[in-house]
Amino acid sequence: MFKWKDEYSCNIESIDLQHKQLFKLGNELYELIKNNKNHDNYDQIQQILIELKDYTVYHFEYEEKLMKEYGYDDLENQEIEHKAFLDKILNLETKDIDEEQLNVMMDMMMFVANWIEKHIVKSDMKYKEFFNDKGVY
Ligand SMILES: [Fe+2]
Ligand SMILES: [Fe+2]
Repeated sequence: MFKWKDEYSCNIESIDLQHKQLFKLGNELYELIKNNKNHDNYDQIQQILIELKDYTVYHFEYEEKLMKEYGYDDLENQEIEHKAFLDKILNLETKDIDEEQLNVMMDMMMFVANWIEKHIVKSDMKYKEFFNDKGVY
């Protein structure tokens, strides 16, 4: 289960709201896996995958735009990591979702967990002070 904690906050309201959205999608997946008793979850998986992809594209574009606008010096690293996550979700789209339902759900949940642990907590946290110093909250 994905639980938001204060330590995940990068002290920028719009970005925290977007990051919370990722937790919400992670929890939807968690519930789906937990309640999975060989039921057919194809429609729900498809739905969450679309939401997750749209979210990924939107959030990364939002962050990168803000970084460009304010001349954030670690933009290149952010772009590299963002692209890696985007590639992963595009790769999940190519899987046979119907045949591999549980695998795809597990992969999606790992995708969300990795994103939080490896990117939000590490890389996104680095821009907190930078933006706050510029008056962006
Ligand atoms: Fe982010
Ligand atoms: Fe980011």
